[in-house]
Amino acid sequence: MAPLSDRQHDAFDNPAKMACREGNLRVLREAAYLLWEDGTRTRLRCDWCELMGATGERTIDLLEREGVLAPGGFVGVDLNPARIDAFRQRRPDLKWVAGNLYERLEAPELANVGVLNLDAYGEIGDPDGRGDFQLIRGLALRGVERFGEFALFWNQDLDSVVRRRNNSGQALRRHTEMVCKALKGCLPRRDLVSEMLLPEGGEERIDSGFVGVLGAFEIYRGKTKGHRMANLRIILR
Ligand SMILES: C[S@@+](CC[C@H](N)C(=O)[O-])C[C@H]1O[C@@H](n2cnc3c(N)ncnc32)[C@H](O)[C@@H]1O
Repeated sequence: MAPLSDRQHDAFDNPAKMACREGNLRVLREAAYLLWEDGTRTRLRCDWCELMGATGERTIDLLEREGVLAPGGFVGVDLNPARIDAFRQRRPDLKWVAGNLYERLEAPELANVGVLNLDAYGEIGDPDGRGDFQLIRGLALRGVERFGEFALFWNQDLDSVVRRRNNSGQALRRHTEMVCKALKGCLPRRDLVSEMLLPEGGEERIDSGFVGVLGAFEIYRGKTKGHRMANLRIILR
């Protein structure tokens, strides 16, 4: 594996990306409990759903190495049908959905999803992304009803807004507000507010180049001078 990421060639296959995958599992172990079979948090009782790309198998390898998947409890989704066909041939024991996740939310393969790795690599603040994200609400609610919890990981490009002279910190704040609005009413006991996900003053830290964990975000960069990614991790319950 290359020591640094080159977004042109290995944006999804580098140590920073691997650490992010491991971070998702760590947060699931630390912050979720109803999604696990029992208090030992060794095996999930729900399905893990992931946008695959060419490298989603790195996630499957990690989850299988750690022995956390329920039998057949992985659903791989991708826009590219040929890619999904190839995955299905290699792993007929897992579930596969070809097409746009937002249009396939009622697919039977998604009925048991309690963890969604929405690893889309879109831009923070992209208006299309905002519309699509509203649709995730239904999937999250279904998970909360079924398991009492739903884990959402949403990985987006933080610095692409800078190209358009926007300010990354403010864009991340707006992104966070949008997430809270879209998930309003999903938590039975309280509503998410933006500062729960991105602490007050987080904008300035983001603008001064912060990398690391900030509130519910892991901000990371694979390549030294590449864009930062903002991976949001929320456990709804
Ligand atoms: C960054 S890759 C996923 C990387 C992978 N999760 C990993 O850990 O290496 C993103 C993939 O998501 C797919 N994708 C993006 N939006 C999608 C959508 N709405 N429905 C289905 N697949 C989507 C793209 O085709 C792309 O292949």
